[in-house]
Amino acid sequence: MGNKIAIITGASRGLGKSTALHLVRQGVDIIGTYHSLEQEAQNVVEEIESLGGKARMLQLDVGDSSSFEAFKGQVTMLLGTCFSAERFDFLVNNAGIGMHASCADTTEAQFDQLMKVHFKGPFFLTQKLLPLMADGGRIVNLSSGLARFSPIGYAAYASMKGAIEVWTRYLANELGPRGITVNALAPGAIETDFGGGTVRDNPQVNSWISSNTALGRAGLPDDIGAAVSMLLGEGGRWITAQRIEASGGMFV
Ligand SMILES: NC(=O)c1ccc[n+]([C@@H]2O[C@H](COP(=O)([O-])OP(=O)(O)OC[C@H]3O[C@@H](n4cnc5c(N)ncnc54)[C@H](OP(=O)(O)O)[C@@H]3O)[C@@H](O)[C@H]2O)c1
Repeated sequence: MGNKIAIITGASRGLGKSTALHLVRQGVDIIGTYHSLEQEAQNVVEEIESLGGKARMLQLDVGDSSSFEAFKGQVTMLLGTCFSAERFDFLVNNAGIGMHASCADTTEAQFDQLMKVHFKGPFFLTQKLLPLMADGGRIVNLSSGLARFSPIGYAAYASMKGAIEVWTRYLANELGPRGITVNALAPGAIETDFGGGTVRDNPQVNSWISSNTALGRAGLPDDIGAAVSMLLGEGGRWITAQRIEASGGMFV
């Protein structure tokens, strides 16, 4: 039997990249996606290959659901030609964008973009890919600590993540008969490029986060890559329909 295969959206950077690198160390092959940074994506492929793993990257705009049928065709072809497989095993709905705006200042255009990228996209991409997923597979949807705590400026973004958490439970119930687990992993503030890299690059923000976190620091991409790969590993097999926060204990 071949290696397990994971599809990870937004695997060119940040949390998706870290997840890919962790899974490769668990013997999982990767089909990753990027949005615009093709070279970054190719660098991740090379890093994975240097670890002895196997990966391919496809371009995808998660905000454009009209492209999902063609994406499914690309995945089907890739599975056959590169991985000698008909099915994949894991789906990590990770790709996303940050946006900071109060309820008063959020525009309809911002709201619609967040909705498409963070909720409608994962919902319909998953629907499209489910026929290609092996029974007994696993899905992890990236939520956010911001769906639990509510600092001003994240209302629309966090509401989409709240929707992801509700959808996760419904999907878990629906896919139970196929032995597929579905969970939402909610990171706290992590040092990536996300939202302009504020958590990583703004010392005031970083120290505010550290002082409100039980473990005393902001998160690192590896903290999340490890958590997602834990859910996709042996220890995750009886965990489904859950929201699991990986925030080092933010605002407890
Ligand atoms: N970092 C945090 O503090 C934090 C906290 C909680 C939750 N999250 C969630 O974790 C996920 C990953 O965040 P991150 O920190 O890794 O972000 P990141 O470093 O900014 O990386 C974002 C990734 O998503 C891809 N992407 C962006 N827009 C896309 C689109 N429209 N269609 C498809 N792919 C797109 C990017 O592709 P390109 O490289 O091609 O641009 C990149 O691979 C997101 O869902 C985010 O909401 C992050």
